[in-house]
Amino acid sequence: AIDPQFTENREKVDEHNGHDVWGPVDEPEELGIHGTHVAVDFDLCIADGACLEDCPVDVFEWVETPDHPESEEKADPANEAQCIDCMLCVDVCPVDAIDVDAG
Ligand code: SF4
Ligand code: F3S
Ligand code: ZN
Repeated sequence: AIDPQFTENREKVDEHNGHDVWGPVDEPEELGIHGTHVAVDFDLCIADGACLEDCPVDVFEWVETPDHPESEEKADPANEAQCIDCMLCVDVCPVDAIDVDAG
């Protein structure tokens, strides 16, 4: 499962689509965690798609990640600022790849 303490245990290494990326990143096999309020561990995501289907405010968008060992697309928290902390995405992800810091 995604490490809920990732902001302490990882380093911010990049930005993508207006959100932070937390390393380590070594493309294409290792992609890190995308987002902070809504965080998706790209190395765990298997492109199940439940988060995209269920999020009531469309926080997630697909991004292509060719040659990643788990899946060739990932749910990117492109609109994390719109999150209403409903926690549906956290509940439906089959591999616990998502953390929402509802504070
Ligand atoms: Fe969307 Fe709810 Fe997840 Fe926020 S917590 S990203 S609103 S499904
Ligand atoms: Fe990925 Fe989990 Fe969403 S596997 S596509 S983060 S439901
Ligand atoms: Zn991203």
